[in-house]
Amino acid sequence: MEQERRSQRSDARQQTRVRPSVTMVDQRKENYHYEEALKTLRTNIQFAGAEITSILVTSCYPNEGKSDIVSQLAKEMGKAGKKVLLLDADIRKSAFIQRFQIEGEVKGLSQYLSGQVAVRDILYTTNYENVDIIFAGPVAPNPSELLEGKLFAHLVEGLSQRYDYILIDTPPMASVIDAAIVGGVCDGAILVIEDGTVGYRTAQKVKAQLEKSGSRVLGAVLNKVEMKKGKYYSYDKYGKYSKYGRYGKY
Ligand SMILES: Nc1ncnc2c1ncn2[C@@H]1O[C@H](COP(=O)(O)OP(=O)(O)OP(=O)(O)O)[C@@H](O)[C@H]1O
Ligand SMILES: [Mg+2]
Repeated sequence: MEQERRSQRSDARQQTRVRPSVTMVDQRKENYHYEEALKTLRTNIQFAGAEITSILVTSCYPNEGKSDIVSQLAKEMGKAGKKVLLLDADIRKSAFIQRFQIEGEVKGLSQYLSGQVAVRDILYTTNYENVDIIFAGPVAPNPSELLEGKLFAHLVEGLSQRYDYILIDTPPMASVIDAAIVGGVCDGAILVIEDGTVGYRTAQKVKAQLEKSGSRVLGAVLNKVEMKKGKYYSYDKYGKYSKYGRYGKY
């Protein structure tokens, strides 16, 4: 079954025509412990099951580190030989154009969802090994409606044949419904939680909201952790990563 699925993906890949390429300039400083934690996150996702292809990354509040983690995870998975699509579904506040210093005009998701361009026009290859990207596109007045339409579901379903993983960046759950809508068409969700900013009840509420939307919550990432000795039972400054893992500050 899994073999059949992989072979369908391989056929679909061969049909993919050469697409325009963008160069992503990653300004984040290398950090050994952060990279190690990413590898563990990648491994945990792989163990979540072969049926998990499309995964959304969200958080309760803004600024908890979603865009950062989703893009670094895409890079890490690509390096490990997985064919990855990084899909920016945060149509309200696109992160990647500025973050990766993308030059020139690129077409994005909002233009595809509003029928202005075709899928092939929004798919870009990148300088990251095995990673393609779809940018969010210009800010649209009705992001929730666009994501709720059939085109988004078809897009994710169609691209699931071509990629091992589709990693989807979304807005925070507390302010808008977009992530829950995306959750309805994804195989799984990861909740990023900034250490010290989200209460237990809020995290539970957001988890329940995701599950209600039909999402399987794969786990949570505790981000921006001040790893003081003793606070967590860590053996070093940055600590370990587990299913409900944690990231040190970089
Ligand atoms: N582990 C970390 N340690 C230190 N700073 C971090 C860490 N993760 C993210 N940041 C910083 O926090 C800020 C917010 O990160 P990011 O944009 O990824 O968050 P976000 O959840 O996508 O935000 P938004 O809700 O606005 O989309 C950025 O300046 C980023 O560099
Ligand atoms: Mg973001």
